[in-house]
Amino acid sequence: MDKLGIITGGGDSPGINAAIRAVVRKAKDEGMNVLGFKNGWAGLLEDDKGVLDRKDVSGILPVGGTFLGSSRTNPFAIDGGPEKAAGNYDANNLDALVVIGGDDTLGVAHKLRDYDINSVGIPQTIDNDLAETEYSIGFNSALSQVMKAVDQLHTTAFSHHRVMILEVMGRDSGWIALFGGLAGGADSILVPEKPFRVNDVKKRIQDRESAGKHFSIVVISEGASPKELDQQITRDSGTDSFGHVKLGGIGHYLREQLDAILDMPIRVTTLAYLQRGGEPTAFDRLLATRYGVTAVELCLDGQFDQMVASKGNKIESVSLEKVIANSPKPIDSHLLKMKDLFY
Ligand code: F6P
Repeated sequence: MDKLGIITGGGDSPGINAAIRAVVRKAKDEGMNVLGFKNGWAGLLEDDKGVLDRKDVSGILPVGGTFLGSSRTNPFAIDGGPEKAAGNYDANNLDALVVIGGDDTLGVAHKLRDYDINSVGIPQTIDNDLAETEYSIGFNSALSQVMKAVDQLHTTAFSHHRVMILEVMGRDSGWIALFGGLAGGADSILVPEKPFRVNDVKKRIQDRESAGKHFSIVVISEGASPKELDQQITRDSGTDSFGHVKLGGIGHYLREQLDAILDMPIRVTTLAYLQRGGEPTAFDRLLATRYGVTAVELCLDGQFDQMVASKGNKIESVSLEKVIANSPKPIDSHLLKMKDLFY
């Protein structure tokens, strides 16, 4: 094992740099050379890369995002893409790739196995929807942003006796909304896994009114859908190269519906990219560091087509095939029930 490549793809999240740093430190310690490819799979397709040494990853531990850049490039959506990727992998004399990303990026890594590309995956997505791992890099940082936003909305909601709707990301998974909402003490948490009725949200707000609480905080996932509409709300009609629609707007939809039936002022905040940016939490820095070192160990062992995963505070190895087949990971059903206790 002489040479490793690193690729970071998909929506970025805080903690990726910490993982890159760990991969480079461990690989250099083992006497390997490392190449960092720029902007996700686009970097391998265009052979856009640079050598990574210890000095190149110095100081990046607390910095959010990925200094290699990211994209949602899908080699399988490009004519001759997989062959080009394989050609550049060979031309660079790579022994393996460490691929840091979510289900799309890691799905590509798994499919490139058929083109003789060895890879080990590291889960990173604020959505936390990758199967076979309890945590993906970035989730903890994102939910801490959601918690802070809920805390801040509380004081102004209380002062003005308002309903505050906070729309958060997560695509088709409610992990961010559920964990962030519970941590912040939101009064209603609406997730994609459980279509909601606008009337039920209204009733909850009114129940709080009757109990003397003249404000409410509703956290809603971008992918949540009202039973009345039976579909998700999208920003436009486009899709990305993996076929995903661009979600967004459900917060404003809910406000319009509630406005018509509720005699209270309502405001909407969309947290959007603020929950994906900024510095990683201590949890994400440690997770990313452990994932990075373990990913290099798997490469040294020749264990490819695998992903590092956290299970009960241990870092393990799981097959990418299983990860892709079982994603998105279902939301914690116990917590989903528990959220209804708090309002
Ligand atoms: O998958 C991460 C994520 O942040 C989702 O929560 C969100 O729906 C999506 O990416 C946004 O994608 P983009 O960065 O392409 O706007």
